[in-house]
Amino acid sequence: HGTSRINEQGNLEIGGCDTVELVKQFGTPLYIYDESLIESKCRQFQDAFKETGLRYQVAYASKAFACIEQYRLIDREGLCLDVVSGGELYTAIQAGFPAERIHFHGNNKTAEEIEMALDAKIGCFVVDNFYELALLQELAEERDVMVDILLRVTPGVEAHTHEYVMTGQEDSKFGFDIQSKQANTAIEISLQSPNLTLLGIHSHIGSQIFEPVGFVHAISILMTFLNEVRKELNFTARILNVGGGFGIRYTEEDEPISIFEQIDSISSIIRRECKEKKYPLPEIWIEPGRSIVGEAGTTLYTIGATKNIPSIRKYVSVDGGMTDNIRPALYGSKYEAMIANHVESKETEVVSIAGKCCETGDMLIWDCELPLVQKGDILAVSCTGAYGYSMANNYNRLRRPAVVFVKNGEARVVVQRESYEDLIRNDVVYVENSSIK
Ligand code: LLP
Repeated sequence: HGTSRINEQGNLEIGGCDTVELVKQFGTPLYIYDESLIESKCRQFQDAFKETGLRYQVAYASKAFACIEQYRLIDREGLCLDVVSGGELYTAIQAGFPAERIHFHGNNKTAEEIEMALDAKIGCFVVDNFYELALLQELAEERDVMVDILLRVTPGVEAHTHEYVMTGQEDSKFGFDIQSKQANTAIEISLQSPNLTLLGIHSHIGSQIFEPVGFVHAISILMTFLNEVRKELNFTARILNVGGGFGIRYTEEDEPISIFEQIDSISSIIRRECKEKKYPLPEIWIEPGRSIVGEAGTTLYTIGATKNIPSIRKYVSVDGGMTDNIRPALYGSKYEAMIANHVESKETEVVSIAGKCCETGDMLIWDCELPLVQKGDILAVSCTGAYGYSMANNYNRLRRPAVVFVKNGEARVVVQRESYEDLIRNDVVYVENSSIK
């Protein structure tokens, strides 16, 4: 992926930096991000849209990976930003991200979060439900401001890894249901809300989608809905946001189609639907997360204990695990790995990579073929850039690893490794009935 290669020492190099040197400097576990690869993904989405001739907006779904430097990178690339919490919004504002390019998502935004977003004057709210619709109108009225909104609707299509299946609305906690006409009511209420400007609708069908068929299906349902609403409520959408979910290649088994092909098919189906229904072409918004950062991230670990159970399995333990990458334990997600300090070797063995948490399920990779491993070797797990650091936790009071951006032979820490002091920062100690901060 990206700028990764094997250097003259036989070590894994990313962004012109030898990973063995990075480990000496920053320790393990360590998240490495190939900055140019993130930039190139941002550009691919924009270039793909430029070829379609459609008006568009690409918003980075920052739940995949967020920190101040990442927000600054996204800003430099000119993308918009999707945030889903006060915490992401706060970080984006601290990063100096232009508020007008921020979209706010989530199925239970609190009044405090909405107020924070209104005060920051963010670009648009993606309203999820009736509760939020009423709350947002109320808070906007209090401040005497007009607020741009999209309504999140559930088209009844849910993408699964390779295929898509129809799901009843009761299966989703997100959005206004189209089938039961909740979505029609939501549009009506939005149009009647004096402080809300309804720009259009949003739908997100799922994540790690490999083929455009799910999008094609969803978009035709959305366009049928919009066409109906145009006749019933005299509302024409200016914006159609089709969400994120573009798949990436974690292992050899994964075969996602390219960003260009995905955008091309989305664009064709929208053009076809609009032409058929004589509907004015809306501006198309998307919200990729994983596909922007997933492949750019690599996690480096130090190998410690090994346990060989004759004719059953060899466990190789690393100094991280489900605390820095919960995806294998949570979803059974698969990853590929290599030994960063001797990538190539004639002799290999099949081992299973275990994390260091006190939990049997804390396995990062089952049965992976690696050069013969020894203690002290550095294991590099690739494609950990999305939902790795962002879902990291302190189980067993492990410290969250540092995050390092690499580019053109230079490495810079963008998130420091947590310290033991960080771990007890919020603990309150009571001595003789008084609390000491
Ligand atoms: N837009 C909305 C409304 C979303 O809910 C999501 C992801 C995205 C965009 C970005 O999707 P992406 O392009 O990253 O697939 N933790 C899971 C993924 C959860 C995705 C949640 N929503 C994982 O590790 O696979």
